[in-house]
Amino acid sequence: MMTFLELAKKRCSIRSFTKDPVDPALLSVILEAGRVAPTAANSQSQRILIVDEKEDLRQLSEIAQIYGAPLALVICADHNATWKRSFDGFDTGPIDTAVVMTHMMLACADVGLGAVWVDYFRPQRLKSMFNLPDSWFPYHVLAIGTPNVALKSPDRHATMRLPLDRTVFKAGAFRK
Ligand SMILES: Cc1cc2nc3c(=O)[nH]c(=O)nc-3n(C[C@H](O)[C@H](O)[C@H](O)COP(=O)(O)O)c2cc1C
Repeated sequence: MMTFLELAKKRCSIRSFTKDPVDPALLSVILEAGRVAPTAANSQSQRILIVDEKEDLRQLSEIAQIYGAPLALVICADHNATWKRSFDGFDTGPIDTAVVMTHMMLACADVGLGAVWVDYFRPQRLKSMFNLPDSWFPYHVLAIGTPNVALKSPDRHATMRLPLDRTVFKAGAFRK
């Protein structure tokens, strides 16, 4: 049984996939991991499109690089459902969707599938492509499939991530 930290270190971005379709039972596990994710005030603003039809994948590939994945999830926030902070209107839609994405991406690694988080696309083009409701905004795409490359080493973070002392500080560190 993997600990959480083992899973977090094992997970890596996969950018090459076999043509094998994603097992529907595994997709259910991934979607369930997204369903239980925390969102601001439990608003559950995420709206997820399953893209697995050949023509839809082809069209999506023109908008976003999904590396030939047989399945992609488009994660939108419904801004009619997002939590807005009362005193300044701060809207947690992109945060809710990022938390849901993180849960689903880790679930992919847990069930042995590869995935990559993709934000490099023009949201309005994606919105038009799927004729999304006005209040929905597509923030992320998660490309999923069977890895066609070796997984990166779980030890890579020794060099691929900053040491903690570059990102974590005692609260008093900046006081005069
Ligand atoms: C918010 C976010 C946006 C990302 N957008 C893209 C993207 O558009 N295309 C891509 O290939 N990878 C994208 N990635 C993947 C990152 O490049 C990758 O997670 C990072 O380099 C660390 O590598 P690892 O996931 O293998 O540990 C994104 C990741 C995050 C968290």
